[in-house]
Amino acid sequence: CKPIQRIRLHESSTTRRLYHATVLPSMVYTTSPEFVSKKQAMDSLVEELEAKTAKARLGGGAKAQERMKNRGKLLPRERLALLLDPHTPFLELSSLAAEDVYSDYIPGAGLITGIGRVSERECMVIVNDATVKGGSYYPLTVKKQLRAQEIAREHGLPCVYIVESGGAALPHQANVFPDKEHFGRIFYNMAQMSALGIPQISSIHGISVAGGAYVPALADENVIVQNQGRIFLAGPPLVKAATGEEIDDESLGGGSMHSTESGVTDALARDDDEAIARVRGIIGDLGQAGYPGASPTEKTEDPVYSPEELHGIVGTDVRQPFDMRDVIARVVDGSRFREFKKDYGSSIVTGFAHIHGYPVGIIGNNGILFSPSALKATQFILLCSQRQIPLLFMVNVAGYMVGSKAEKGGIAKDGAKMVRAVACADVPKLTVIVGGSFGAGNYGMAGRAYSPRFLWMWPNAKIGVMGSGQLSQVMTSVSKDPNQHATLKSEIENQSTALYSTARLWDDGIIKPTDTRDVVGLGLALASRRPGSSARTGRLNATWDGTGTGFGVFRM
Ligand code: COA
Repeated sequence: CKPIQRIRLHESSTTRRLYHATVLPSMVYTTSPEFVSKKQAMDSLVEELEAKTAKARLGGGAKAQERMKNRGKLLPRERLALLLDPHTPFLELSSLAAEDVYSDYIPGAGLITGIGRVSERECMVIVNDATVKGGSYYPLTVKKQLRAQEIAREHGLPCVYIVESGGAALPHQANVFPDKEHFGRIFYNMAQMSALGIPQISSIHGISVAGGAYVPALADENVIVQNQGRIFLAGPPLVKAATGEEIDDESLGGGSMHSTESGVTDALARDDDEAIARVRGIIGDLGQAGYPGASPTEKTEDPVYSPEELHGIVGTDVRQPFDMRDVIARVVDGSRFREFKKDYGSSIVTGFAHIHGYPVGIIGNNGILFSPSALKATQFILLCSQRQIPLLFMVNVAGYMVGSKAEKGGIAKDGAKMVRAVACADVPKLTVIVGGSFGAGNYGMAGRAYSPRFLWMWPNAKIGVMGSGQLSQVMTSVSKDPNQHATLKSEIENQSTALYSTARLWDDGIIKPTDTRDVVGLGLALASRRPGSSARTGRLNATWDGTGTGFGVFRM
């Protein structure tokens, strides 16, 4: 009998061109008046963002920095720079947290957080900025630290805590201490992560008092700087009041006592430099602990079109439309995109691409969400979940369609299908708000409540239950207080801005449009470390007894 003949199908260049990811065409005229005016508006917003970020990075300012220097200490960002491997990227999170929130200026909420490489290993780094109110914890400082820990847990990132903090900001104690997502949760997270095998390392460079004393105490391994780091449950004044004992800081909680007598610390460093070098040594010796990431599946390749053009494509007015494909073309490798269901539900764009060599399924908005768009997005989310491909949401959504025609067509149930799919998809989700994120469109497009691994905003982005104009119109019809209407519109406008959002940690930071590709690329690299539902105890595609499918009941 004849051996089975193997037929090899050769791909012709035509099939490759037609059916694989192809370079997106782009018809952007960079000299058109529309492009130029959009660009100018976005340029000035980006400049404003850069200025605010640069100011926040100075922490408590020149005087507070000088005080720290005079005490022979390194500044928080100097400690950070020493910790990180030279010339490696640092993905800083929420650098404008707490901006314009408190009556005092609390730059970055008095805390620096971000993901960087330490001794060739990606780590979550959390640094107290003692130049800002003694590094004490305001409500948003706690929120920022908890968010950093959440990201660390989701991605299996070892945590490094560079500690120097006066503990809870006492006037705010009611909003930092008692509740579930308050101070105690920091230590709960440390204990949980340590149990999961995610290393918790700390170095103590200044006072670490009361609640703060538990950061080093709960670390797996720690280092303290002599004559500088201090750990105690209560400082000398409180000890005197409570017990009558008179004692100085150093004898009560200094490094040499803790390293030789109490055993609260594991190593004594002569100064900041040595402490950081020791932390680098600890991280270098972690062995198999932690979770390695996957390598990119493709060779990375720059987009064909310049990301600089994003400013003139999008602009700053959310009412001005643009084609999300023009944005995708400036973010993905080689500007190549294999579009899914291109001719159906055209107000949403779905398709496959690579960013820095990592595969990704992209969902982008091109208008209001109608039933077909919601159904198409739902199918695409199911496809990506099935194939374990991370999802990137590029958001510019005014919401789901309203009106009797849409209601009769079942927009509520079709929108709910998309929301359900987003909520249950067991793949990493990344969200970038490029324009508006309004109404239930925010839910369907993986808003904060849908636990995307990261959520970033562009400086022009707007977020709210609806646009400020619509909202004040609705209020006019339901409220009888005319005074309220006058102020409401401008109040809502202010509350919808990216700056307002980022100050309150509704996102992980405002990014420049031109940085989108690199930032999302880092996000995908991190997501490859733990592609499944890492933060939960079990996988979602099983019910409590390990059987069944994972999406619940789609309303048909
Ligand atoms: N709550 C609120 N504000 C605090 C604070 C806290 N826990 N700790 C420090 N601050 C503020 C100070 O009021 C001061 O504010 P100002 O610049 O507006 O005057 C600023 O932080 C710097 O404090 P200062 O004492 O001048 O600096 P320092 O470097 O000499 O000392 C500390 C820093 C943290 C060692 C010292 O302020 C301290 O011991 N704070 C109290 C710590 C404490 O008991 N915490 C209990 C937490 S439960």
